[in-house]
Amino acid sequence: MTDLIPVRHYLSLRDYEHFKWDEAGQETSERWLKPVRDAGLDLQKHKVFHHGNKDYIIPGTDPFVMIGQLGQSGSNVVYKVTAPPVQNYKRPLALKVIVCKDKVFSPGPRTRARRRALEEVRNMAKIRHSHIVTYVSSFENYCIHVTKRKIIKNGVKTLTTEEEIQNHILGIAMYPPAKYNLRDLMERRRGHQREMRCMHSYFGCLAQAVAYLHNVQIRHKDIKPANIVIDENNIPLLTDFGLSKHFEVGKDSDGPTAKTVKYAEPEAHHERGRNARSDIFPLGCVFLEMATTLLGMPPMFAEQRLQTIGSRDEFKYSESLDKLPDYLDELREIAEDLIRSKPGQEQSARAIIQILPVIQAMMDEDIKKRPYAKDLFHKFRHLYDIYPKDAGPCKSCEEEIKTDRSFPLVPSPSMLTGRPLTRSSTEASGRTHVTGSTSRSGTTHTASSAGGGSGGSNGGGGGSNRGSLVVGIMRRSSMVAAGNLAQGGMTGSPTELNW
Ligand SMILES: Nc1ncnc2c1ncn2[C@@H]1O[C@H](COP(=O)(O)OP(=O)(O)O)[C@@H](O)[C@H]1O
Ligand SMILES: [Mg+2]
Repeated sequence: MTDLIPVRHYLSLRDYEHFKWDEAGQETSERWLKPVRDAGLDLQKHKVFHHGNKDYIIPGTDPFVMIGQLGQSGSNVVYKVTAPPVQNYKRPLALKVIVCKDKVFSPGPRTRARRRALEEVRNMAKIRHSHIVTYVSSFENYCIHVTKRKIIKNGVKTLTTEEEIQNHILGIAMYPPAKYNLRDLMERRRGHQREMRCMHSYFGCLAQAVAYLHNVQIRHKDIKPANIVIDENNIPLLTDFGLSKHFEVGKDSDGPTAKTVKYAEPEAHHERGRNARSDIFPLGCVFLEMATTLLGMPPMFAEQRLQTIGSRDEFKYSESLDKLPDYLDELREIAEDLIRSKPGQEQSARAIIQILPVIQAMMDEDIKKRPYAKDLFHKFRHLYDIYPKDAGPCKSCEEEIKTDRSFPLVPSPSMLTGRPLTRSSTEASGRTHVTGSTSRSGTTHTASSAGGGSGGSNGGGGGSNRGSLVVGIMRRSSMVAAGNLAQGGMTGSPTELNW
């Protein structure tokens, strides 16, 4: 019950269903509850309560029990926690605590910050996939600050009380509490040989996560290394649905969007029509950094090479695309050097050379020339076979490709009251042939899958193919994710390749 099992097993056990809020202390006011229902959330999964006029709460994990800190971004903090003791739910979780505070308006049930946070919960609650963090439950907590004032009018003293909502937070509990994010892993790659070997499999797994999202008509909209976490079993998971959006097939969206500019697709900067393939550009940027790292260079090497000399603007991949072919040629040369000088790296270096044109297509300026997520997996399939003991084929992804199981395979009826998810008509059309995938035994087989083989969440059992399970033990101190990684590997110098 306390093991940090892979999400695949977690989903097949339907473990998330064991967490249900009771009604004790549940907020009863409609102004708080209506937006929860409007977001399609079940009150057994999302609870609103307040601390009355007791002392201010410091935005924290209460009523969850904090074990340590996992990450931070802006005012949002992600903690490793266990469920409130009354829940009798033992498995450790990650809790993202969002401070619901608008720039202008004071906290309350109708702030934009609250609407956005509820939207994030709604999006997460729709998703069940073995390479995406799983929504378990959520809550809101606030306190009421009462100010008493004495007013003397015409010599008569009266006492007035004013109530003000303070410290409104929304917490999202998810599984698993991961080790660190991909950005930190790539930056401090030295001393992480096993993790680097496992990274070869991340291309296919992440492509499948995005294909699943697009199939259930959700665009992530903020794909970047910091929003990809690595669990205790060295499995990559997409996280952070703060900007993600439900989209309608065939409709492009316009208008500005808040996102990380470095990885943003060109059409976001120019506020041009965007669609599901907008996610492919930032995924391509992430893959470029992963390829750079696997060739022994720091991820920042890509930025250093692509950046316009003397530019003071914040670096954006989308504005450096004219230099991309030269950079890819340089990576090819680095790979060829490795093939000549390090026989142990030959297979890995050759595999990376093979994916460079795919990454280039993913980062195409023209959205229409980028591949669909559903067509990506087989282009990265060969990378799983380089280190079969550490990475090896991913059972979830293989099953998805072979069976083309519709998603979500693990339904979440108690999670949402909204409409059921359907497969998108465009994604469902056509068949993709996956060829040349070599199983661990070394045999080559051909699998075909309707709907492009983008997979659903995998409910099937089966053992982990990432080595033995590791029970996550973290120090009780506020340990940030980066602290989990051994120091060393300064950006700018090549890594000693020996994985
Ligand atoms: N499930 C998780 N396990 C471990 N760390 C996580 C998890 N989810 C998020 N984090 C870490 O916390 C950071 C902030 O979380 P995120 O959801 O990305 O917040 P924001 O919306 O503010 O960017 C992430 O970059 C990541 O490092
Ligand atoms: Mg984030």
